[in-house]
Amino acid sequence: MRKVTVIPGDGIGPEVIGSALEVLRAVDAPLEVHRADMGLACYQRTGSYLPQETLDLLEESDAALFGAITSPTTYDPDYRSPLLRLRKAFDLYANVRPVRRPHPTVGLVALDVVIVRENTEGMYTGVERDVPGGVITERLVTRKACERIVDRALSICREEGRKSVTCVHKSNVLRRSDGLFREVFWERVRGSGIEGRELLVDAAAAALVQRPESLECLVTLNLYGDILSDEAAALAGGLGFAPSVNLGESFALFEPTHGSAPDIAGKDRANPVAAILSAAMMLRYLEMDEKAVRIERTVTEAIGRGIRTADAGGRMGTAEFTKRFLELLSSA
Ligand code: NAI
Ligand code: MG
Repeated sequence: MRKVTVIPGDGIGPEVIGSALEVLRAVDAPLEVHRADMGLACYQRTGSYLPQETLDLLEESDAALFGAITSPTTYDPDYRSPLLRLRKAFDLYANVRPVRRPHPTVGLVALDVVIVRENTEGMYTGVERDVPGGVITERLVTRKACERIVDRALSICREEGRKSVTCVHKSNVLRRSDGLFREVFWERVRGSGIEGRELLVDAAAAALVQRPESLECLVTLNLYGDILSDEAAALAGGLGFAPSVNLGESFALFEPTHGSAPDIAGKDRANPVAAILSAAMMLRYLEMDEKAVRIERTVTEAIGRGIRTADAGGRMGTAEFTKRFLELLSSA
């Protein structure tokens, strides 16, 4: 038995995580599941966005599965994103987002790329200060963070049989910071057996659309990775299909790439596939590969058979999709 903490969160989080949990039960994954709270609804109920009990449970778990949370819309100087806090507290330094079309009839281009994004620094240090007439944002790039994100990308390439890795940066403008990242990239790639390439971030945005087959793995800094992974997800069928993991050395938090989608929350319209695929990634992390493969194959088959929610051109709601998906899974 592996111990897993599940945090449904806000908006469509509980709906898509509900589906993913049904799928995990259906494949008989030997998991001890504990539920925990985090986010805006949690704050409204308990006065805390990230209760200590949740941190304690996570501390004792092998992995976590998380839905999404809603950010407060009014400015609160004391608010610190609970997700950013978790990434820091558990040193989840790599955000890994595999992006591939789940079926050839979905999405716009034939993508099969994994985006490996530095998750702890860059533009997300959140340090901003007022200066006369404006605001300065601090952006941190350290050698250590560059080394471990590049090393992680190389090990993913090896594990998944990807032959090349592309460093995405903007060192023509950010000569010192992105220049450091680029320098470390070439140091680590040399002699690794993986072919190194590089692209400026704007060119990478275009390449995702125009020559997606040339991209196998992108390694990049925080903000670029955030933006490019949403672009890639949209090209590959939409946010409803995009899983991800926040990965550290000894802990991993799996989550769909999408947010809490308040526009469709509670309306039985959310596509649970991103959460289901995130759960499958978690099973692979916990060395239950066979079950992960079974879920991933069923996703492709379900979509091929027209088992789809509205965002993917189908007519099903979350509940009916889940029911039909489970039927297909049990017959596989
Ligand atoms: P979003 O990803 O929640 O939604 C963007 C659009 O995609 C919406 O039209 C939504 O309906 C649609 N969408 C997203 N997931 C879908 C799904 N599974 N099925 C069908 N349609 C789906 O991004 P948005 O609107 O920018 O943010 C909403 C809230 O979520 C904000 O409070 C934001 O801060 C938060 N957020 C949280 C994240 C997290 O918890 N990791 C990540 C991104 C945003
Ligand atoms: Mg994002």
